[in-house]
Amino acid sequence: MSALVTGGTRGIGHAIVEEFARFGAAVYTCSRNKKELDECLEDWKHKGFRVAGSVCDLSIRTQRDKLMEAVSIYFDGKINILVNNAGTSRLKQATDYTAEDFSLIMGTNFEASYHLCQLAHPFLKAAGSGSIVFISSVGGLMSVPSASLYAASKGAMNQVTKNLACEWAKDNIRVNAVAPWIIETSLI
Ligand SMILES: NC(=O)c1ccc[n+]([C@@H]2O[C@H](COP(=O)([O-])OP(=O)(O)OC[C@H]3O[C@@H](n4cnc5c(N)ncnc54)[C@H](OP(=O)(O)O)[C@@H]3O)[C@@H](O)[C@H]2O)c1
Repeated sequence: MSALVTGGTRGIGHAIVEEFARFGAAVYTCSRNKKELDECLEDWKHKGFRVAGSVCDLSIRTQRDKLMEAVSIYFDGKINILVNNAGTSRLKQATDYTAEDFSLIMGTNFEASYHLCQLAHPFLKAAGSGSIVFISSVGGLMSVPSASLYAASKGAMNQVTKNLACEWAKDNIRVNAVAPWIIETSLI
């Protein structure tokens, strides 16, 4: 199996990369911090895991294009699994959120995930059996204090999971979302 897991250098994404690698999958990941990414790649190499990666700021569209180009070349045009894991949050009252907060949270959590699904679609289809997993949140299902923008990004993700699951079933691509409650990571 070949898998792209975004944001694999810390937290939930890091655990997903290692779990996939232990099952024998070849994994590709990305993050913004090159030093941290290089340290993770070195560590995974010592553990005997097949993990590659590159720096990408997923909130920037052109960087997402470049990432998928690199991943499709690395996996020879076929990707079995896409995990849209990378995410961010800023806790504020709704009255205090700025336009920049809106772009960052919606751009990183929702727009980037949606766009990666579009970019990955031909490669998931070519694999013959594809799977997309969105890492959503309980915050996208119920009201969590001071997290209205984060909630909106995850709520949109939950809805799109249903749409893409129906649209892409014909291409043998399953689409699911996982909604964790609080996990102790660098995000919180
Ligand atoms: N922790 C929780 O309680 C919790 C609960 C429910 C859902 N979730 C969701 O689970 C996912 C992972 O969260 P986490 O708690 O594991 O977070 P985390 O510990 O902060 O790790 C986030 C990972 O994503 C990367 N990342 C963040 N922004 C990025 C960007 N713009 N471009 C590329 N990579 C980026 C980070 O690396 P760089 O910073 O170097 O880019 C890091 O590898 C998120 O979608 C989050 O919303 C978390």
